Amino acid sequence: MTFLNELDAIGRGLPRRDGPAKVLGTAVYAYETPLENAAYVCPVQATIARGTVSQLDTTAAEALDGVVAVLTPATAERLASTEDRELATLQDRKIAFRGQVIAAVVADSSEVARHAAALIRVTYAQAAHDCELRADRDDLYAPERVNPDFPTDTTEGDVDAAMAAAEVTVEQTYSTAMYHNNPMEPHATAALWDPAGDGSLTLWDSTQGVHPTRATLAAVFGLDEAQVRVVCPYVGGGFGSKGQPHVNVVLAALAARAVPGRPMRLALTRQQMFALAGYRTPTIQRCRLGADHDGTLTALEINVVEQTSKVKEFAEQTGVPARMMYASPNRRTTHRLAALDVPPPSWMRAPGECPGMFGPEVAMDELAERLGMDPVELRIRNEPDVEPGSGKPFSSRNLVGCLREGSARFGWSERDPRPGVRRRGAWLVGTGVAASTYPVSRMPDSTATIRREGDRYVTEIGAADLGTGTWTTLAQIAADALGVPVSRVDVRIGDTDYPMASVAGGSSGMTTWGSAVVEAARAFRSRYRTEPPDGAEASGVVQPPDDRYAMHAFGAQFAEAHVHTDTGEVRVPRLLGVFAAGRIINPRTARSQFIGGMTMGLSMALHEISVLDPRTGHVVNHDFADYHITANADVDEIEAQWLPEHDPHVNAMGSKGIGEIGIVGTAAAVSNAVWHACGVRVRDLPITLDKVL
Ligand code: MOS
Repeated sequence: MTFLNELDAIGRGLPRRDGPAKVLGTAVYAYETPLENAAYVCPVQATIARGTVSQLDTTAAEALDGVVAVLTPATAERLASTEDRELATLQDRKIAFRGQVIAAVVADSSEVARHAAALIRVTYAQAAHDCELRADRDDLYAPERVNPDFPTDTTEGDVDAAMAAAEVTVEQTYSTAMYHNNPMEPHATAALWDPAGDGSLTLWDSTQGVHPTRATLAAVFGLDEAQVRVVCPYVGGGFGSKGQPHVNVVLAALAARAVPGRPMRLALTRQQMFALAGYRTPTIQRCRLGADHDGTLTALEINVVEQTSKVKEFAEQTGVPARMMYASPNRRTTHRLAALDVPPPSWMRAPGECPGMFGPEVAMDELAERLGMDPVELRIRNEPDVEPGSGKPFSSRNLVGCLREGSARFGWSERDPRPGVRRRGAWLVGTGVAASTYPVSRMPDSTATIRREGDRYVTEIGAADLGTGTWTTLAQIAADALGVPVSRVDVRIGDTDYPMASVAGGSSGMTTWGSAVVEAARAFRSRYRTEPPDGAEASGVVQPPDDRYAMHAFGAQFAEAHVHTDTGEVRVPRLLGVFAAGRIINPRTARSQFIGGMTMGLSMALHEISVLDPRTGHVVNHDFADYHITANADVDEIEAQWLPEHDPHVNAMGSKGIGEIGIVGTAAAVSNAVWHACGVRVRDLPITLDKVL
């Protein structure tokens, strides 16, 4: 065994270790887990937005051949904890949002379960509902904190006085839409209760965190965590919607406990996902910027209004990125919520940063326009020396480097700042820029074990790979930390039988689990100084981050937009993102993360919107026919680059999370490019043709 890192696995674009199994179709996803004599669960959803179920007639459903059980509030087990009201399913007859689960059918096949669910006759006592988000509602309230634990409001200096005194100002309202996470694999769970009569529950669940799911389900059912096993080797995407268990997991477990010995399968349909799997809240952002003639910001304000559910509060931290992005002596950020009769909003790729960098980054473009200043230069002019608010030094901050590198690569220097003057046939052509940022996080408690098995080094940790590359990148980190070739390292993840791992969320997966793997390797190497014997083993726990530094990744996104002069059609033939995100563990999987995020940002810019009809509380476009997501034909040239960034403070790998920053700022860059093309400012997403004509 060598202790030299001459092989340097980190930094190599190794192909995904899980790739062949996925391409060959042999990778087993939760719903496909081989289970004998499995039954199928189909939820029944409320068709009103508020009220109570006065009667559930299950006679026809129960009479159907192949129906095993019908779960209703009258027959379903009482849960040990109903504190999380999103998960406290079938515990009472109240309806808090349209699409809420009011019953479930268990049957021998999914077809029979679905048919039987349609045979259940429901009588409602309907109550008046309220599903309309408006900034002028008189019942807006300030939550105690915003997600996950930030102050709701912040104030520095005197924004009003600074705005009154400013030489140039921008005051505008921006909005982002309601969006639904739509991973390719739907939310799916297989559940088996008590196979050995030992009171244990096994869940094969499509999740971003097996251990967090176990903790939540154990509490809901009043079990010891040791009695619950959660298995998830592969995830077909999550984007945050599988970061916390939703009602499907509880329903599958409830069904398994109602029919002992029989495994259950439950996969939400695409349409069911639109009510049951979380979504990003719409936001309304009132932004104010004040500046001197030279572009120096003197005031910066964002006041956010967004929705939450009456069932469970989720306060998206939309105003948070404006707290640290640019220098300004006067600053105010606020969040206000409307609690509506809607499903609970939840995490969706870069909660906070994604919507929160739309308004301010378009406002910066508007300020540049008023100043007659280049928008790249305006941003560089307002670089802070230390993190605004906290006063902490940045562990590294290379926004300026990203803006300059991006400008050079994109050909920004030739840009004529005037809007609406470049024509290519029937198309108006423009370019736009916006900044990206995302915090570097490390979660507590994750543990990794490294063991010698034969001539292999096996790394075990209950981590998740939702398409992000974990199977591959953890092996690279372990190899370098052990000083062995990566080809001799095996990785085992996605099972609560492995050591505890935090959720794959907040772009903290690799920074957290990788840190635990490095600790385990250190322990292993100090215990076994010569060739380790078979069975040699050591564990390591992630250490807390160095909180003397402010840690964030940065980026700059450049977009070219074409707007058709007759139809208003908007096309984006070119997107370039340049990121500074520490050391890149694997350029191949990293590029996929960056361009995936940017594509989702383009989708947010042009296509995505969940249309909630306030008369019914129903998302009317709840399928892929009507909920448009950017597809191959919408994306032309999309390029992600990164700066070589050495940050010794973030963690042992020098890496920053990259799963989310790619979606941050994209929509603003596109909107700014659309303005430059045709002279119309689109402040309300998505940028549809009716808004530019
Ligand atoms: Mo991400 S929305 O924190 O999974």
